[in-house]
Amino acid sequence: MKHFLDIFDHSPEELQDLLDLAIRLKKEHFATGNPPLFKGKVLGMIFQKPSLRTRVSFDMAMRHMGGDALYLSPNEIGLGKRESIADVSRVLSGYVQAVMARVFEHAHLLELARWSSVPIINGLSDYSHPCQAMADALTIEEKFGKVKGLNVVFVGDGNNVAVSLMQISVKLGWNFTIANPEGYDMPAGSIEQAKKVAAGTGSKLAFLRDPHKAVKNAQAIYTDTWTSMGQEEETTKREAVFPPYQVNAKLVSEADKEVIVMHCLPAHRNHELTDEVADGPHSVIFPQAHNRLHAQKAVLARLFGVA
Ligand code: CP
Ligand code: NVA
Repeated sequence: MKHFLDIFDHSPEELQDLLDLAIRLKKEHFATGNPPLFKGKVLGMIFQKPSLRTRVSFDMAMRHMGGDALYLSPNEIGLGKRESIADVSRVLSGYVQAVMARVFEHAHLLELARWSSVPIINGLSDYSHPCQAMADALTIEEKFGKVKGLNVVFVGDGNNVAVSLMQISVKLGWNFTIANPEGYDMPAGSIEQAKKVAAGTGSKLAFLRDPHKAVKNAQAIYTDTWTSMGQEEETTKREAVFPPYQVNAKLVSEADKEVIVMHCLPAHRNHELTDEVADGPHSVIFPQAHNRLHAQKAVLARLFGVA
């Protein structure tokens, strides 16, 4: 594994291997303690947008395993503004052993990777959020085991988190359904790619408008903010369109009895997800957030070639 930029860069076997490693590292974390596999290694963390989970979980993942992490704030580097991305990448490559970047444009990650001699990790772009998808898959496997044919349903905006969830679902042989309003579809290219992967793994894909139809028989219902970072000027328009897509107790009652409710967080409570559901018996939002730590330790370990 050279970089971790997009779920579709990796085979089902590679992704399952990462999840198995995450489960092992999570067990060790709570039982025997973390092995110092990242000793002498520093992760540079470039953030062009705010973060709680990504920043803290990567930082702690490095520290737990004997390494260190360096936070580089939006103003600090001025990626592509103060200095070209190619130059930033080549300079950082000489200082740190891997770089995690949260960017606006996915193309900027590809540009970082093009010039870097150390691994680049996608910490969220406008297109995808693969580290989130690894934690999501870990959470789903912990609940249901390694089962193909689970029904994973995303309700809301066809955004970066939805794309990565679709990608990991079809890679692992889960069925993926999205219900989103017209005008908020996932990028057409991501859907075409997913259809091809699904044909090989036996996953079924469905793209619907009706959230009630979508959640029938769902084992996982997933939602995310209606307005992603960088889209703030569209907030009012989006708040008018998305209310029928709220994940509330009624919608959850229409799914499988065992359904888990997921959200990458931060949640806009009582907008895309009601308090009642977020804090109710089906919700896994906090274990899901905590799984970021374990999933990312596995990604880092494979990129460093130490596990
Ligand atoms: N889910 C997630 O990536 O959260 P942050 O934006 O807080 O990192
Ligand atoms: N879709 C959200 C995810 C935040 C973790 C965003 O991009 O803002």
